[in-house]
Amino acid sequence: MSHVLLIGFMGCGKSTVGRLLALRLGRTFVDLDDRVCALAGTTVERIFAEHGEATFRRLEANALESLLREPPSVVACGGGVVVSEGNRTLLPQLGTVFYLRVDAAEALRRIGDTSSRPLLAGPGAASAARALLAERESVYAAVARVSIDTQGQSVQQVTEKIITALEKVDAEC
Ligand code: S3P
Repeated sequence: MSHVLLIGFMGCGKSTVGRLLALRLGRTFVDLDDRVCALAGTTVERIFAEHGEATFRRLEANALESLLREPPSVVACGGGVVVSEGNRTLLPQLGTVFYLRVDAAEALRRIGDTSSRPLLAGPGAASAARALLAERESVYAAVARVSIDTQGQSVQQVTEKIITALEKVDAEC
């Protein structure tokens, strides 16, 4: 199984970079949040609001597992995919995991309107983002094979860095 999996905080660019990367590698692009929404037949906000975060995490784990049965793709994971221990074990088994690093201020700038991110919705978005990122940073780095700094980098630059790193990883295997 050799997917390319992008992890990192909300707003780090997983989906935007993932789309370009998939194009460059000639692979299918999978957005894990979109998979969850398709499974649930509704939006991320509604799943959180009507069923709670635990239900969202269960659906997210199911969506991740479904990749085991699929040809190699480029996958943009939701920012909280590393919260589950099962997912932390499964991610490296699915393929090469890249952590796209960003700081909380830049993440919020890139997200803009946080209303579609239930964990950052409301007036305390800045402190919530800082606290959540501080909690997850070392987990992202531990799960990933390669960490890529995206601070001040364009989508093209980040994509190039991933392609270069991927060639190195492939040469090592
Ligand atoms: C989440 C990140 C979101 C989405 C959900 C929870 C998180 O995905 O899965 O709102 O816990 O960090 P993005 O990282 O694509 O915004």
